[in-house]
Amino acid sequence: MALVPVAQLLKQAEAGFYAVGAFNCNNMEIVQAIVAAAEAEGAPVIMQASQGAIKYAGIEYIAAMARLAAGRASVPVALHLDHGTSFEQVVQCIRHGFSSVMIDGSSLPLAENIALTRQVVAVARAVGVSVEAELGKIGGTEDNITVSEREALFTDPDEAEVFVRETGVDSLAVAVGTAHGRYRGTPELDFPRLQKIRSKVNIPLVLHGSSGVPDDAVKEAIRLGVRKVNIDTNIREAFILSMRQVLLSNPGEIDPRKVLGPAREAAVEVIRKKIRIFGSSNRA
Ligand code: G3H
Ligand code: 13P
Ligand code: ZN
Repeated sequence: MALVPVAQLLKQAEAGFYAVGAFNCNNMEIVQAIVAAAEAEGAPVIMQASQGAIKYAGIEYIAAMARLAAGRASVPVALHLDHGTSFEQVVQCIRHGFSSVMIDGSSLPLAENIALTRQVVAVARAVGVSVEAELGKIGGTEDNITVSEREALFTDPDEAEVFVRETGVDSLAVAVGTAHGRYRGTPELDFPRLQKIRSKVNIPLVLHGSSGVPDDAVKEAIRLGVRKVNIDTNIREAFILSMRQVLLSNPGEIDPRKVLGPAREAAVEVIRKKIRIFGSSNRA
């Protein structure tokens, strides 16, 4: 199948009250793991590449691997730019065949975030590519800020209503208590805020920083309108743990395939588990 826009997958998720997993890829093994897991679960899936992933692997490699994997898959697969920050980068991704892009103007003042997102929506819409934007600042677990400082960065429901109306964006990433990376404690999600955003915004919501969020909290977020759940850190952990185990038990191993093969399998397992939690198994 050809790569499909994320908006198409999220529309179906909206109708079925589930969420589609969006998994970050940086290399061939993770691309293969994402599609293998989705096929094993009969699930639609989103493969996403950050600017860091594009810098590491090269945009041509990421796009070619995703196209090949999607072309062979029996389930729908999207290729999405994760946290794009410039108009130029978005256009490059579209030119290389990405079926969806995120424009993250969350560090900008509201009016500038709206202006940048509108510009991206205009171009992407013209070529059938869907757009995710971010309002509020999700940030990272490594950011040394207090809980109340983080709460000040949460998405404002009234601003979200204006933002969506002014930009025409397809989906919205919200800051409701999650952060990127490994949590030190257990994250507390602001469900009342999520519910309020949902009541004012009639498009699918996106949960970033979802690795390490308890399964029940993820399910509650999905019940409240989250339709795309982003996972990177849990894949990294499974991949590297597996590599470490192989190398510890056989320090003389010099065949990369003997190290990366089991890591790929470990990634498949963690992605399958997430897909089941998101309720997207057998929805392809
Ligand atoms: O949202 C962040 C993702 O985990 C991507 O991380 O920028 O290190 O590729 P990265
Ligand atoms: P985690 O690495 O915390 O799972 O976050 C992934 C993400 O939000 C990618 O945009
Ligand atoms: Zn993110």
